[in-house]
Amino acid sequence: MKILVTGGAGFIGSSFVRYLLRTQPGIEIVNLDLLTYAGNLRNLETVSNDPRYQFVRGDIASSNDVRAVFEGNRIDAVVNFAAETHVDRSIEDASPFIRTNIDGTRCLLQQALQSGVSKFVQISTDEVYGSLGPVGAFTEDSPIDPSSPYSASKAGADLLAMAFHKTYGLPVVITRCSNNYGPCQFPEKLVPVLITNAMDDKPLPIYGDGLNVREWIFADEHSRAVWLALERGKAGEVYNVGSGHEKTNIEVVKEILRLLGKPDSLIKFVKDRPGHDRRYAIDCSKITREWNWSAEVDFARGLAETIEWYRTNQEWIREIKNSAYLSYYDRMYTRRDQTLAWSKQD
Ligand code: NAD
Ligand code: DAU
Repeated sequence: MKILVTGGAGFIGSSFVRYLLRTQPGIEIVNLDLLTYAGNLRNLETVSNDPRYQFVRGDIASSNDVRAVFEGNRIDAVVNFAAETHVDRSIEDASPFIRTNIDGTRCLLQQALQSGVSKFVQISTDEVYGSLGPVGAFTEDSPIDPSSPYSASKAGADLLAMAFHKTYGLPVVITRCSNNYGPCQFPEKLVPVLITNAMDDKPLPIYGDGLNVREWIFADEHSRAVWLALERGKAGEVYNVGSGHEKTNIEVVKEILRLLGKPDSLIKFVKDRPGHDRRYAIDCSKITREWNWSAEVDFARGLAETIEWYRTNQEWIREIKNSAYLSYYDRMYTRRDQTLAWSKQD
């Protein structure tokens, strides 16, 4: 079976590529990735010489790039991870989110339909459901109610993918997972910002009151669920993926500081994210029931493994924390609080 994985050089896509090559001897993978700021071929160094794997640099929103991949390969199925993924960047400028997440998905859907693939797995997110109050959890039947330009673009892609199923019979399956953490996550998301800043004794920015809740899942567990979605997911169905490990941001930051042996005084409360969703929680009983899937890695163990990865991959961090990253960081965080500017901390 030959599958097209898009966005395979990113955080979760690379976990999925490594996972498949490790566990599925008969698999062949074509990884189509544009290598935006978030894409990094270092994440795939361990598999780059595997004869079952090939990398193609290209844009999912370019019909020429997508067509070339399908013309050069007999693709059986598609797993679409490629996306612009950071909520704060989407608040600054929504346009790349609309282009990649919506039009890029359309482009892939059209080519997949033309080529007659056996499955199209659209990697979505629990953020499309919007925000929860203090109790309850999102089920697959919860209404779509996105808050940010990012989550609105992902919701748009989900609706389009389902429309391709209903209108043309394309065998689309959608997964909606909660917050991932683990090795190779770009240091713009909460966990790697906190780990890499704490390792450098820099302030740890926490938005608002720090009581927003996310459900944290180790990325490799998400990959295991995506493989099951590809193998066993029913066309036209949505599948939630979650861990049950709900934590406030304050609990997350304190656990990271404890594991690193750093003081709580590094925590710095900053201006809140506009439209900040208060709480996410996922009911994933459907995939437990249908596929016997459940998360196995507990949060403290997954976090310790993640910290160890960042500790032993300083070169990876140094390459990313270049001038483009530092200007992003200054732009994003100085706006929230002048004392967070890197230039003032160095
Ligand atoms: P990421 O930002 O780490 O990686 C995204 C990848 O997509 C990068 O390799 C980038 O180069 C590539 N890409 C971006 N635009 C592209 C384009 N136009 N054409 C081809 N490639 C392009 O993202 P991630 O955190 O690994 O997320 C992967 C997917 O999982 C996304 O669809 C995201 O919405 C979804 N998701 C993420 C989380 C999470 O917690 N990170 C949770 C649930 C769902
Ligand atoms: O729920 C799944 C989603 O999880 C994915 O679809 C997104 O791609 C992914 O980015 C993530 O979205 P979040 O907005 O939940 O993740 P982020 O890491 O940006 O923020 C997690 C929480 O931490 C959130 O409440 C905002 C807060 N935060 C974030 C950053 C970057 C801070 O307090 N300080 C920070 O510096």
